[in-house]
Amino acid sequence: MRAASAPGKVILFGEHFVVHGSPAIVASIDLRATAIVELMESGDVRLSDGSRGNPAVRAAEHILSRLGASTGLIIEIRSKIPQSVGLGSSAAVAASSSAATLHLLAGRLDHSMILEASYEGEKTVHYMPSGIDTSIATFGGAGLYTRSDGYRRLDIELEEILVVNTGRQRRTGDLVLRVKEFSEKKPEIFKQLLDEAARITMEGLDHLRSKDLEKLGRLMNRNQELLRTVGVSSPEIEEAVALCLEAGAYGAKLTGAGGGGCVIAVADPDKLDKIAPVVSRKFEVFRVKLGVDGVRIEQP
Ligand code: MEV
Repeated sequence: MRAASAPGKVILFGEHFVVHGSPAIVASIDLRATAIVELMESGDVRLSDGSRGNPAVRAAEHILSRLGASTGLIIEIRSKIPQSVGLGSSAAVAASSSAATLHLLAGRLDHSMILEASYEGEKTVHYMPSGIDTSIATFGGAGLYTRSDGYRRLDIELEEILVVNTGRQRRTGDLVLRVKEFSEKKPEIFKQLLDEAARITMEGLDHLRSKDLEKLGRLMNRNQELLRTVGVSSPEIEEAVALCLEAGAYGAKLTGAGGGGCVIAVADPDKLDKIAPVVSRKFEVFRVKLGVDGVRIEQP
């Protein structure tokens, strides 16, 4: 038996546009998923509730095939990451399951193999993942991601952020398709939005480094406008964003795929103490620490 865990994530800038080649900034959060993997002499790979065809199972199967191993596995998942709300739960589950399987069978962690297996797992959730969620779940920390160059870990001077869960679950694949349709119907407008998203991400990086929360907030508001334009905001997201801004946040935007899910907001830490109770009258609110460890072995 072996256990491994991996973190969830927030995307600070650039979701969706990252699928189409633009850079994005992502940070791991202190909510983790743990996979406990046990060898079975016969049978296939399945979750402890019997289910198959999910990110954890697909990722573990990929590890087995890379090792040339054929054995049955039972995987139990224990996760603190809310599901289907944009916090990277499926990637964390896939990364923890790959890491536990690899360590159980080969006695080592190989991050590039774990990343590859997690990506295969993530494909059960949507058909063209950029790889951002699986990269942050595998490597942890915070940094810049592009499809062409992968994940570049960076020192980012932002320790904490407010996460507002609108409670509406949705499927990442549907929202990624919605943006793809927009890009096909309005290619010229989409190209302009893509360029602006790239500029916002790179400017955001400067403000993160200098910890200029006010400028960071303004950029988040502009990023939210772009996401609204491509059709991935929702009435709940707009309400959560408006509540955060009215309560004094410098900026707020959806994080992850949108269509519901979570909103993030930035403000000075003492201001966050005041914003959280106001927003929590309507939505679930929590503060998360950013920049935690990627996959790691745990005591089962
Ligand atoms: C999902 O967390 C982020 C998206 O950009 C999809 C992806 O990058 O694979 C919406």
